[in-house]
Amino acid sequence: MKAVIIGLGTVGRALLREVQERGHELKSKYGLNLKVVGVADSKTAVYNEEGLNIAEILKMKERGILNDHPNRASLTELIKGGTDVLVELTPTNLKDGMPAVRYIREALSAGKHVITANKGPLAVEMPALMELAEYNGVHFLFSGAVGGGTPFIRFVSRCLLGERVIRIRGIINGTTNYILTRMEEGLSFEKALKEAQKLGYAEADPSADVDGWDSAAKLVILSNVAFQSGVTLRDVEVEGIRDIGLENVSDALRNGETYKLIAYSDGESHLVKPQRISLKSPLNVKGALNALQVEAEISGKQTLVGKGAGGRETAAAVIRDLVELKVRLAGDGRCL
Ligand code: HSE
Repeated sequence: MKAVIIGLGTVGRALLREVQERGHELKSKYGLNLKVVGVADSKTAVYNEEGLNIAEILKMKERGILNDHPNRASLTELIKGGTDVLVELTPTNLKDGMPAVRYIREALSAGKHVITANKGPLAVEMPALMELAEYNGVHFLFSGAVGGGTPFIRFVSRCLLGERVIRIRGIINGTTNYILTRMEEGLSFEKALKEAQKLGYAEADPSADVDGWDSAAKLVILSNVAFQSGVTLRDVEVEGIRDIGLENVSDALRNGETYKLIAYSDGESHLVKPQRISLKSPLNVKGALNALQVEAEISGKQTLVGKGAGGRETAAAVIRDLVELKVRLAGDGRCL
């Protein structure tokens, strides 16, 4: 399978390293023979239909000299050339999803499969992009867009096949959960936020985290998968954690409760807002952990807990999608 990767940030570089190190395993275990034929960062695109030397790309990227590569190309060549799949990993933009929306649209329209770990295009245009993929008879996968490597999306879409999901509820932003955890330990909101930024949990603009928009974007994705609700970011009622304050956090603790930024959807209402939950709730996870509780009609409430971010973790989700794509194309019906 030929792939191009647009976006060589933390996730894109981690993906290249994983492909380099685990290429043989992916081939022998899943029959996935992956050839990276194109890569692009924000300035340079490189393309070679025979396959790129990944070690060389990583080295050049590290030294900031990717534009010295002999196989420079245009983004159009990457997207519309001989690739089977576009892996889109550009930075998240929750305002209009650009430029990712444009790349994804171009690829789907050109009959290419698309894998993304980018919340932006899904938050603003998920229903339209899904329709475009279906119209063009191609696959559009986005396992890494929610929960990093933790398979929240598959939990909702695949693990409960044949059952009706009634509601989903959870903590799907690591930064705010880290801040609230540290506030319980007596740290101010500002100091806790600084720590979260230092640890690399927060978005480039951390207001996306603390004001609830990152959670809302992920809720849109989960709700569309669980309920086919056809929603975008505009349909979510959003409130962040800025105004909670240390006093309220301590009061909750004294009463056996804890503040969490909870995302909720039942297919009709979609909200993100801080709530007090019992200290005994399975959603009471600490630090930057995420937790999603799915309530299914027959099997009841089930909670999945895991790390919600990280370059290598998210790259694992992209690899999961590549394997899923291979299995779907082979049509061998294996359930992964
Ligand atoms: N800023 C996000 C978070 C990163 O804190 O969860 C992962 O999407």
